[in-house]
Amino acid sequence: MSSIEWWQKATVYQIYPRSFQDSNGDGIGDLPGITQRLDYVKSLGVDVLWLNPIYESPNDDNGYDISNYRKIMPEFGTMDDFDKLLSGIHTRGMKLMMDLVVNHTSDEHPWFQQGIDPSSPYHNFYIWRKGEKDGTPPNNWRSEFHGPAWQFNTANEEWYLHLFSQKQPDLNWDNPAVRAEVYDIMKWWCEKGIDGFRMDVINLISKPTGLPDDPLVADGKSFSSLRMSANGPHVHEYLREMNRKVLSQYDLITVGETGDVTAEDAIKYTGFDRHELEMVFQFEHMSLDNDPQFGKWSTRKLNLVDLKRSLSYWQEKLHGRAWNSLYWNNHDQPRVVSRFGNDTPQYRSVSAKMLAQTLHFLQGTPYIYQGEELGMTNARSMTLADYKDLDTLNAYQELVEEKKLISSTEMMAAIQRRSRDNARTPMQWDATNNAGFSTVTPWLKVNGNYVDINVHDEETDPDSVLAYYKKLISVRQGHDVFIDGSYQLLDPTDDKVYAYVRENGSEKVLVINNFSDEFLKRDFASQIDKTVRLLISNYASDQGMDNLRPYEAKSYIVQKQ
Ligand code: GLC
Ligand code: CA
Repeated sequence: MSSIEWWQKATVYQIYPRSFQDSNGDGIGDLPGITQRLDYVKSLGVDVLWLNPIYESPNDDNGYDISNYRKIMPEFGTMDDFDKLLSGIHTRGMKLMMDLVVNHTSDEHPWFQQGIDPSSPYHNFYIWRKGEKDGTPPNNWRSEFHGPAWQFNTANEEWYLHLFSQKQPDLNWDNPAVRAEVYDIMKWWCEKGIDGFRMDVINLISKPTGLPDDPLVADGKSFSSLRMSANGPHVHEYLREMNRKVLSQYDLITVGETGDVTAEDAIKYTGFDRHELEMVFQFEHMSLDNDPQFGKWSTRKLNLVDLKRSLSYWQEKLHGRAWNSLYWNNHDQPRVVSRFGNDTPQYRSVSAKMLAQTLHFLQGTPYIYQGEELGMTNARSMTLADYKDLDTLNAYQELVEEKKLISSTEMMAAIQRRSRDNARTPMQWDATNNAGFSTVTPWLKVNGNYVDINVHDEETDPDSVLAYYKKLISVRQGHDVFIDGSYQLLDPTDDKVYAYVRENGSEKVLVINNFSDEFLKRDFASQIDKTVRLLISNYASDQGMDNLRPYEAKSYIVQKQ
């Protein structure tokens, strides 16, 4: 890479359409709602919008189960609404990234329905197998959403593979006809003028030869077998084919969602000379607070030294070879201020800003998930009945009800900490009923703190989290050192402060982030030993680089020579 590409400099804003803005009073966010709010999105200074799936879907997994890739989900609006949204985005000089969900379809997709008949050409679009004579499935894999990864179909007496829910059968990418159909769909959207794809679980598309049993499941050590399909034998061949046939024909931003990848794996997907994807979403920093046995169903707290080690590993490995995506939040992760920050009234705002600075000044393309720019917190006071996410409900069913491995109280604590619904509560626009999201009761309960945390109030407060995000985005865009500079971690064993240096030929920046609620004294001055100028800070007046207040975040331009 010699020059900076537009998608490297860009900031991406993720919209979860179901929870962003309801325009027609049915309690569900929709496309006209997003169009109404485009000036707000533009005011953040972001360049690209990523929309979670908006295609026709029975909504078993909120749109990640698609029954028609060329139609809009009626709850979200019409194709005409989509065209208006796209042109509204383009008129404002922004770009649109669509979610591409092609590891699986809905079981209501016509390919699946027709393919139940073994003589149909669509049979081989999915992964069907005969089970054992005694009625056990073809292998022992567990689905990500709990229960076996195989479902028996009584009509053809075969089992089909579903790595996610029963209503999300996996496509058979080894069939060239499947790949051709996927590329056609992609071209169709590109011809409409979209600007990129976020590819759902894209490193799972090539299943391991012979579909061997999962040893960890056999030992009772894992509840999911996703791992078994990660980075499979033909995945790079298929992505290169996709790149040749579709991606290379357009100027697109692409990001692949890839669990279970090391930085070396990621370089294979995103290396500048690989002709596959621009970047991937890796998960390492999102699992540091996992439980060894129950995975994300955990109440463990992050150890900052682990986070620094992980992020630094990715920064260093990819530098000059491939490109990082940077994220704390998305529709699958709890709110970061509640998870790695401090969401009490005293520290919520300052710690949300600190987390933002930590992330945005790393090398990579930053992604902001709706409401993150307000410092929105995890859901409060939800009972089990209030949760809608099938992952959460299935996990409760399996771990508490069936296997009795966790008590209900412990599981509810883990859910409050890690459930995906923490991210999916409606966007908090103002202090009116339903947070200005809808005129009626929304599909998922509004977080009760909307009266204090909302766009309306933060827009008029120069000291808000929102104001800080805007400033941070513009500062990053104004200094190429954040895009192409090298990265150096300071004091790796400091478990309260995350400080690093970015440097390129013309600039050097020292970035300091206090992850604790303590007043601290550190010694950066002697390590830097140069004149510095404050670039940005989340406190009003600076007390010098070595004096840190609770959750203080500040960056300095260091004079070169
Ligand atoms: C991805 C999506 C998640 C979805 C899953 C299955 O992880 O981000 O929301 O449930 O894939 O499509
Ligand atoms: Ca609606």
